[in-house]
Amino acid sequence: MIAKEVVEEVLARTDLSALIGGYVSLKRTGSNQTGSCPFHSERTPSFTVFSASNSFYCFGCGAGGDAITFVRKIENLEYEDAVEFLARRAGIQIRRAPEMFAGKRYDRARLYEMNKDAARFFHGSLYQNTPNSRAALSYLTEKRGLSKAVVTHFGLGYSPAEYDVFFNYMKGKGYTEDELITGFLCGRSERGGLYSSFRNRVMFPIIDLTGNIIAFGGRVMDDSQPKYKNSSDTPVFKKSKNLFAMNFARTACAEQLILCEGYMDVIALHAAGFTNAVATLGTALTEDQARMMTRYTKKVIISYDMDDAGRKAADRAVKMFGDVGLEVKLLKLSGAKDPDEYIKKFGADKFRALLEESRTKFEYYFESILAKHDVTVPQEKIKAINAMCDLISGFYSSAERDVYITEVAKRTDVSSDSIRQDVARLIAKKRNAYKQQETQKIHQTAAGFADKVNADFVKNPAAARAEEAVLGLLLLQIEHRKRAFSSDVALCEEDFCTEFGKKVFAYIREHANEADVSEFLNEAFSADEVGRITHMKIARMQLTDNGDGVFDESVRKLRASVISAQEKNNGMTLSGLSALIDRRKNEK
Ligand code: CTP
Ligand code: MN
Repeated sequence: MIAKEVVEEVLARTDLSALIGGYVSLKRTGSNQTGSCPFHSERTPSFTVFSASNSFYCFGCGAGGDAITFVRKIENLEYEDAVEFLARRAGIQIRRAPEMFAGKRYDRARLYEMNKDAARFFHGSLYQNTPNSRAALSYLTEKRGLSKAVVTHFGLGYSPAEYDVFFNYMKGKGYTEDELITGFLCGRSERGGLYSSFRNRVMFPIIDLTGNIIAFGGRVMDDSQPKYKNSSDTPVFKKSKNLFAMNFARTACAEQLILCEGYMDVIALHAAGFTNAVATLGTALTEDQARMMTRYTKKVIISYDMDDAGRKAADRAVKMFGDVGLEVKLLKLSGAKDPDEYIKKFGADKFRALLEESRTKFEYYFESILAKHDVTVPQEKIKAINAMCDLISGFYSSAERDVYITEVAKRTDVSSDSIRQDVARLIAKKRNAYKQQETQKIHQTAAGFADKVNADFVKNPAAARAEEAVLGLLLLQIEHRKRAFSSDVALCEEDFCTEFGKKVFAYIREHANEADVSEFLNEAFSADEVGRITHMKIARMQLTDNGDGVFDESVRKLRASVISAQEKNNGMTLSGLSALIDRRKNEK
């Protein structure tokens, strides 16, 4: 638990618009600032920073809250880590008590320290004067051609072959068996003995965006299996949310980011001057990773292996980048299986030239369509043209579409006018389908379906809306809170109709006397829930009259709608019953 005073100080010392401005470019509009929401893809900015209330809210996706909520969402951090992140940023020292993970206590700062000590040990092991050490160093420097400077830059190392050398060293440093196991550095055998997880492998430390060592990958130095062993998820590591070398690439990728498959590819690229290269951590690209990239760059160049698996993975990645709104290009390496081998064979200049002429999404699909269909056969040619029109109809810019239409016309020997017509027809069709989908979505949202935060909303939307109005007012003004708990009004949990509403009310009651009741929301609610609560408050803020009269009236409405909902429920059962009786009568 982090002390209240610390949370207060962190919030007081954080300038929200400066914090958010580091991620989103904001424009002043009156007393507020707006920008494009970093949490969903949008074309018109609906993301707003309210300076008066030190909060943000996106009218598009409903994300909202304070500086802590923002950091939780954008840096993918748990509540306490987000506070720590902001504390560090504001130069405030905080010391955290041990936390629980899988029923055991752990101290996050110690796990970082432990990984750092392990990385130092592995790195040092490259330079021991033993046959194994020498073999490992020569694997990296001679076999893989890395300079000592690159080995140092990436903190590469070697894990000794023995079961116990590493963990004895770590125990000597004061780490407990539980800590070593929790951090995936050690395992326990069936017979109960401890063993080092990584043995006789060259080691690649995985570093997070703030410079902490959070995990390791280890590669064998021969052809044995498995080729790589990677840390599983730990309290400080989530595979699906990190990228190898993003800590280095983050400052070099404003223009474009290169995504490869392997650690060795990334290292070879950085060594050759392409410091904007990153890789996933032994898994397919995840949406979290794609979203994280949108915070640093506009364009990703995929440079996966040139085998079937690589091509399939690239197809998936192209789709995912499209979904999060990143421009994407694919690199086709000929004469080498991956970027590492390509650079070794042909040099950095050749690779740079490839980057410059890297193929767009259109060209990539265009060629794969041509490869699938033999355009000298009429039926196949029609299929190919249909597929191409479908592809082109997905592009937003009409100038871009025109360029591609001309190209398709040329390649298939069909007039560009008829292709243009086909594309226009497809666009109209897609637009209608999209409109229908949107209308459906709006209806569903209005009815409260797909409401992940407040699943009960749909059961009684009128009462749930009345509930949000009351909660909004309570959040807004301490006077309303005082009145709510006075004997005149005596608001209680039973007055609320949804579980979420009850929970928010209970929270407000507990914090009723704080000047800013929202200050500790993040401690009690998920980031999405904080967004919803912020929505209730902002919705009220946008109304001019929020005085006592309005409050009393809102409470009256809430009580009335909850009661009428109960009656309606009873009524429905009654009418259902009489319909049943009628049907029985008719059957007779
Ligand atoms: N990988 C893994 N486990 C394996 C094989 C691969 O986790 N058994 C992951 C690693 O992150 C690896 C990436 O997938 O870096 C790409 O695999 P591959 O192309 O086989 O490895 P490279 O990094 O290119 O290694 P090398 O060039 O040394 O063979
Ligand atoms: Mn490779």
